[in-house]
Amino acid sequence: MTEWAQRLAEFTARKEHEARVAVPHPLTTEIDRATGDLKRIGNAWSERFFGGSFCVSPPRSADLPSTSLVFVRSREGNTGAADPETLGGGATDKHLIYEGLSRVAADAVLAGAETVRSGDLVFSVWHTEMVSLRSALGYPRHPIQIVATLGGLALDRALLFNVPALRVILLTVCEAEERMREALAARRWITTLAMNQPADLPHACRTLRQWGVERVSAVGGRTMATALLDAGLVQDLYLTTSPRSAGEPNTPFYPRPLRTDLVTRKHGSGPEAGVVFEHLRVGTT
Ligand SMILES: NC(=O)c1ccc[n+]([C@@H]2O[C@H](COP(=O)([O-])OP(=O)(O)OC[C@H]3O[C@@H](n4cnc5c(N)ncnc54)[C@H](OP(=O)(O)O)[C@@H]3O)[C@@H](O)[C@H]2O)c1
Repeated sequence: MTEWAQRLAEFTARKEHEARVAVPHPLTTEIDRATGDLKRIGNAWSERFFGGSFCVSPPRSADLPSTSLVFVRSREGNTGAADPETLGGGATDKHLIYEGLSRVAADAVLAGAETVRSGDLVFSVWHTEMVSLRSALGYPRHPIQIVATLGGLALDRALLFNVPALRVILLTVCEAEERMREALAARRWITTLAMNQPADLPHACRTLRQWGVERVSAVGGRTMATALLDAGLVQDLYLTTSPRSAGEPNTPFYPRPLRTDLVTRKHGSGPEAGVVFEHLRVGTT
């Protein structure tokens, strides 16, 4: 086994163990305004803890993927944290929503380069119930890993760029692609999607759809989230707000008012009382 394969095996064992021993606490539903055009996702385990089906929007048009954003934030709205778990969303948010329902039916997970630079990461589902649900829905074990970078990344450092078994797309610009040419040549399993300029995100998303990507779960951080929201590419926002003061000050997921419609609001229970989960649909203007 190569060193990277060994690291993936250890990473997977750790994530599966964490998901197995985590104790979720059922969410209670305050508001549920889910409409008929939303797709409902879940199994007996997720419905028990989520308190019903989890909903995702269909794509806005035939040439774009459906894209959601998932964020946890502190009570002040901070999202920046070297370890987002310190923001206080709790185990239910992490295992049921963040590493669960928000991506269980996603073809791809999209992250900004800064989020990926923060450590060894593979964006997938790890709880056995979510792994089974993903398989039952007909998706491969791991979503495609889309990483967005403008300046380029040191591909020899992060786990997810060094495991040929993972499908990886680098969303970047032509100059950065050129800068990473040698590293990419040594990693033929990585596909690049190079834009002429950062503002070409809508065109890049259309290309993703042509490549068969119908649903994207974007996991932030706030810089990438803002770029996607400003480009009008996000349909669903899954937002967990903790009761804890935490995180880097002044790091909201979006820096301006955002027009949204509330679909669902749920509350944490037991030791997670005070956590609020909201599903919001993002307006087009
Ligand atoms: N609370 C949460 O739920 C949550 C979720 C995710 C991350 N985080 C935290 O948030 C922090 C990272 O957030 P961040 O805002 O600093 O960074 P980020 O959004 O993760 O990444 C920003 C980077 O994305 C690339 N990028 C930006 N616009 C782009 C575009 N139009 N096309 C292609 N690439 C583009 C650039 O990469 P280059 O630098 O390579 O040019 C940019 O520096 C970390 O602390 C992380 O732990 C929190």
